[in-house]
Amino acid sequence: MPSIEELFQAFPQNPAIYYTLVFALLVGVFKLTTFLLKFGSLIVDTFVVPPVDFVKYGANSGKWAVVTGASDGIGKEFAFQLARRGFAIVLVSRTKSKLEAVAEEISAKYKTNTKIVPFDAASDDEANYLELEKTIYDLPITILINNVGQSHSIPVPFLETDSTELRNIITINNTATLRITQVIAPIIAATVEKSRGKARGLILTMGSFGGLLPTPYLAVYSGSKAFLQQWSNALAGELNPEGIDVELVISYLVTSAMSKIRRSSITIPNAKDFVASALRGVGRRGGAQERFATSTPYWTHALMHFGIDNTVGVYSKLANKLNLNMHKSIRQRALKKKARTAAGVSAEKKD
Ligand SMILES: NC(=O)c1ccc[n+]([C@@H]2O[C@H](COP(=O)([O-])OP(=O)(O)OC[C@H]3O[C@@H](n4cnc5c(N)ncnc54)[C@H](OP(=O)(O)O)[C@@H]3O)[C@@H](O)[C@H]2O)c1
Repeated sequence: MPSIEELFQAFPQNPAIYYTLVFALLVGVFKLTTFLLKFGSLIVDTFVVPPVDFVKYGANSGKWAVVTGASDGIGKEFAFQLARRGFAIVLVSRTKSKLEAVAEEISAKYKTNTKIVPFDAASDDEANYLELEKTIYDLPITILINNVGQSHSIPVPFLETDSTELRNIITINNTATLRITQVIAPIIAATVEKSRGKARGLILTMGSFGGLLPTPYLAVYSGSKAFLQQWSNALAGELNPEGIDVELVISYLVTSAMSKIRRSSITIPNAKDFVASALRGVGRRGGAQERFATSTPYWTHALMHFGIDNTVGVYSKLANKLNLNMHKSIRQRALKKKARTAAGVSAEKKD
């Protein structure tokens, strides 16, 4: 096989071919270099750099963190792991009894203060946001975790999506998240200002692979999470001068009530491991190397995100087709399970 040098020597008489080859070589070198730099940065972010020190956000100095969707799953883990790092916690979610139980557990385990604010984010009632403000306006809050979210009960074609489910997803994932941020971000800004440079603020919002990749049969959820990507990135630009770091956290599946997956695996961590990676990776991009103020922190999710982005691409026809087939098959299995459960219930009734 001729070497590159020999190839170049073969075409010196034809400048067009010569310069095309030089240009192609330079583009190739540039592409390879940027790919290697991004991949190296992913490896360093995910496996090498030591965990973020939350003293930066006021840990162990009487500061508070607000966590939404805090009574279960990923939100409950955020609450526990932030309490362990030395923050008092405001827990927000729907069910008062669950919030009370979590608050009690946190106070007993970490000897830290807690407050609870029960409300149904699907109602989008201004009274909810006023009640939240009334409970927290005088607390030195530095962290907000926008975790509350809802997905479809099972994958469903958009045209068959129940209108209540559609409204709830958009209201909880988008309207409530934005209104809660409007209530809490000014309090974080005031706390940061009072700390005279000693503490920064942090707003993390839960994104999803559903928002990273357009996801047929989860179209409303997918759109709502993609909305959060743009909103959170825009907010990151606005609030940086106020001393507040804003980040979207992207995740593939995690075991939880929402995912309906109970057993963890290499690509599906439990909430504890996922949240540990998210807090360790604040300020780093993990698998989201192409995105500003965004992190895909869990190591297998990071490799998946990077792999898709650097091969077929998140907006490709192929990714869309594969996603469609996967969710069609999940829907079919879910419908069969529903039918079996219904048959079981009616047999029980007959007995
Ligand atoms: N699990 C995954 O595979 C996965 C993957 C990617 C992204 N995410 C995102 O991660 C976030 C948390 O998901 P998760 O799996 O931890 O969910 P989860 O286990 O179902 O927990 C949801 C939490 O949100 C609260 N909540 C639900 N509906 C509410 C409402 N209408 N008003 C107020 N609070 C409400 C729940 O409170 P109650 O218990 O009182 O109902 C609960 O505390 C979501 O934003 C989700 O989109 C999850």
